[in-house]
Amino acid sequence: MSWEASAPSNIALIKYMGKSDPNSNRPSNASLSYSLENLRTNVLLKKLSNSQVDTWNSVVSEKIPEAGKTKFLKHLAMLKERFDVRECFEVSSENSFPHSCGFASSASSFAALTKTFFLALKSLKNQDVTLQQMSALSRLGSGSSCRSFFSPWAVWQSEGAESVDLPYKNLIHVAVVIESVPKEVSSTEAHRRVDTSLLQKDRGFRAERRLESLVSLMKDENWKGCFETIWQEFWDMHALFETSFPSFGYMTPDSLSALKILKEGWQKDGDGPWVTMDAGPNIHLLFRPDQSMLLQDYQHRLGQFKLLVEGSLRNV
Ligand code: DP6
Repeated sequence: MSWEASAPSNIALIKYMGKSDPNSNRPSNASLSYSLENLRTNVLLKKLSNSQVDTWNSVVSEKIPEAGKTKFLKHLAMLKERFDVRECFEVSSENSFPHSCGFASSASSFAALTKTFFLALKSLKNQDVTLQQMSALSRLGSGSSCRSFFSPWAVWQSEGAESVDLPYKNLIHVAVVIESVPKEVSSTEAHRRVDTSLLQKDRGFRAERRLESLVSLMKDENWKGCFETIWQEFWDMHALFETSFPSFGYMTPDSLSALKILKEGWQKDGDGPWVTMDAGPNIHLLFRPDQSMLLQDYQHRLGQFKLLVEGSLRNV
């Protein structure tokens, strides 16, 4: 018997950075994300008949770092214990997007594992849980994964995420791939370190204010106002990194050159994509469908970089 499910990654426009409870990944502030339907993880759980332990499928296993594999099996063990599932499984997990881009996403992989586990639970024990409960349980594996259950917009306050009805439901996602090597400071470590920054003291206040204003700007379809808020928000998070002790950062000279091109583009055109960055050097852009000409322009303007447009590589 086997079960399979997939989940999208998501990009936060108001960021989850800092935890009020690190043991259960409770965030210090609310966050808002857009789901990235073309950056997905697919998980397959195969029931093992002669095993007392969960294992990794040997073919996919080679591509995943040891620490990631251990964290994944730990999440599965936690779910099994909570729902008293005694069966053991072979786990496979694969991303839908190219390996070479450094977008190994804990959000899509933990959400897909959680979803697949609940498919198995339904067929093994005829037990159901709601999407909200699934999201809250996924959070225990990796915080940002709880937003991957709701599409396109999700807001996460504390327990699990929920769907939020906002305009701009069909945005085009472009990633500027600056570097694809694994980062030195993981996002879990970043959450820990930002507690040492003096800026973290008022971070909750700033994030909540921005969330409120972003939602209202979106409802007014004020695209430029949204861009400004989203821009301020990712710089706020990166300032937390640089003002932590010990200080750390993800921006590379190439990240800064690409950001300069984007900023100058906005100044010249009075329009442009929304721009954000996670805990890494890569840059995420969101375009409206009616900006397809501008998107083409940006493929030239950013021609020196590897671009991932809706999950497919361009200008390699
Ligand atoms: C910068 O969800 O990866 O992407 O809960 O420790 O697994 P853990 O952290 P993770 O943090 C993601 C942080 C972020 C911002 C965001 O997605 O909101």
